[in-house]
Amino acid sequence: MIDIHSHILPGVDDGAQTVEDAINMAKLAVEEGVTKIIATPHHQNGKYVNRKQDILEKVVELNNILQNENIPLEVLPGQETRIYGELLEDLDKEDILPLNHSHYLFIELPSGHVPRYTEKLLFDIQLKGFTPVIVHPERNSELIENPEILFNLVKKGSLTQVTAGSITGHFGKKIQKFSMQLIETNQTHFISSDAHNISTRSFRMRESISVVEKEFGRQAVYFFHENAELLIHGKTVYKQEPRQIKRKKFLGIF
Ligand SMILES: [Fe+2]
Repeated sequence: MIDIHSHILPGVDDGAQTVEDAINMAKLAVEEGVTKIIATPHHQNGKYVNRKQDILEKVVELNNILQNENIPLEVLPGQETRIYGELLEDLDKEDILPLNHSHYLFIELPSGHVPRYTEKLLFDIQLKGFTPVIVHPERNSELIENPEILFNLVKKGSLTQVTAGSITGHFGKKIQKFSMQLIETNQTHFISSDAHNISTRSFRMRESISVVEKEFGRQAVYFFHENAELLIHGKTVYKQEPRQIKRKKFLGIF
């Protein structure tokens, strides 16, 4: 299994703090059946700055450590970039690191809202030949309230990634329900861990996959596995026509 979102690089953000933390995360990932993992440190989220070159060097270091420890996990380079005004300029400056050097780019929205310039920026990113992958939209409170905002972005070519722990209910019922709706309506293309540690923000990949299989069948599981594989090779991922989430009618009078 391939996990495309993790904070396994030690000492760069709020994920693994030490090399020992990273090793413990790697061991647990392997137990979960993960063979390749993209390290996606936070970038420009107001707290952490992790530029492309620094990440590339640290990924090489971590792979050497894991090899010495005989842990069969390959770490690939990536970045979780918070949406910000100068993102395109910084893409030109080579500060931004697409996932495993592909044309797929992680974009994180703030947790409480969707900036007004989002649609335009995601469009401009696509004009440059990149495909934005919006990370964990199911945890954004504005998108939960107004799911048509996400539908519009997906319709216009952005992809999305749902976090495993959201599917298993570790972020609460509301987020779990929205995650399931996003899968059901073809508005998400990847499931990944966004693991930060081995306790409070762990992998939950296996658990989430069994929920998806139970709710949506084996086909859905293949779809997500296959897409992660296609992404790391820079190939075109599978998409199905997205549908709007049907809102429950209130008061029974409609
Ligand atoms: Fe993350």
